[in-house]
Amino acid sequence: MQIRAITIFPSMFDALTEFGITRRAIENDLLEFGTVDLREYGQGTHRQLDDRPFGGGPGMVMLAEPVIDCVADLRQKMRQDTPVIYMSPQGRRITQDDVCRFAELPDMIILCGRYEGIDQRALDIICAEEWSIGDYVLTGGELAAMVLIDTIVRQFPGALGNEQSSECDSFSNGLLDCVHYTRPRTVQGLSVPSVLISGDHEAINYWRMKQSVGRTWLRRPDLLDRLDLNDEQRRALSEFQTDHQHQRKT
Ligand SMILES: C[S@@+](CC[C@H](N)C(=O)[O-])C[C@H]1O[C@@H](n2cnc3c(N)ncnc32)[C@H](O)[C@@H]1O
Repeated sequence: MQIRAITIFPSMFDALTEFGITRRAIENDLLEFGTVDLREYGQGTHRQLDDRPFGGGPGMVMLAEPVIDCVADLRQKMRQDTPVIYMSPQGRRITQDDVCRFAELPDMIILCGRYEGIDQRALDIICAEEWSIGDYVLTGGELAAMVLIDTIVRQFPGALGNEQSSECDSFSNGLLDCVHYTRPRTVQGLSVPSVLISGDHEAINYWRMKQSVGRTWLRRPDLLDRLDLNDEQRRALSEFQTDHQHQRKT
C-alpha cells in the first residue's frame, strides 16, 4: 500500500518510520510511506498557509489553494482517484471494520489539518472523506493520521511477524481480547491462572474465549448487543457471569 501524508510538520511522522512494527513494514515494502510538506505549496515569499476566518472569530484557517495544488500534484504521481482522507473531529469515527477496509486499498492520501481547520472549498474540490479518531479535539491531524496508519499496518499479512497476530486483537471478531500473563508465575502473591500452565491447549483456548466474552460483557456490553454468540460462547459467558457474581459475594 502507498500512503502520502500532507502536513506542515513532516518530522512528526518519524515516530512511524523509525519505530517498531510500522518501521519494519516500511523496510519490508509492505507500506510505501512518505510525507509532503504543505509549506512547499505556501503562497508568497513567506509561503503563507493560513489566514483569518471570513466573518471574524478566533483562530486561523488553512488556505484552500495550497491544499488543492498539493493534492493535484500527488494525484498526478499516484492515481487520479486516489482517495483523500481528511483527519477531522467532525468525520465518521473510525472502527476496526473501517481499518480492515482501508487496509485493502492500493493507496491513500491523508490530509492533516491545523489551526481551526481547512477552508471548506478545498475539501469540497478535492472530494475529501472526513474521518475522526474520537470525540475530542487534537491540535492537529498528524497524531490522528499516525493512529490510522498504525492500525492499517497491523492488518497487513506478515506485518506483525509470527510472534503476534491481529486475529486475536480486540474488535477483530467483535469481542475484546482475553487477559494476558507472562513470567514469573507469581507476582506479589498473585498467581497465573492455573489453566495457562496446565499444557491442556483445548482448556486454554476455552478459558481465553471465556475471558474474551466475559470481559466484553463487563466492559463493552454495547459490542455484545451487536453479536450473535454461538452455543459455546453463550455457555462460556454464563459461566463467566456465575464466577463474577461469586467473586463479588466473597
Ligand atoms: C484544532 S483542530 C480543528 C478543530 C475544528 N475547529 C473543530 O472544532 O471541528 C485542528 C486539526 O486537528 C485535526 N483533528 C483534531 N481532532 C481530531 C480528531 N478527533 N480526529 C481526527 N483529526 C482531528 C484535524 O485535522 C483538524 O483540522
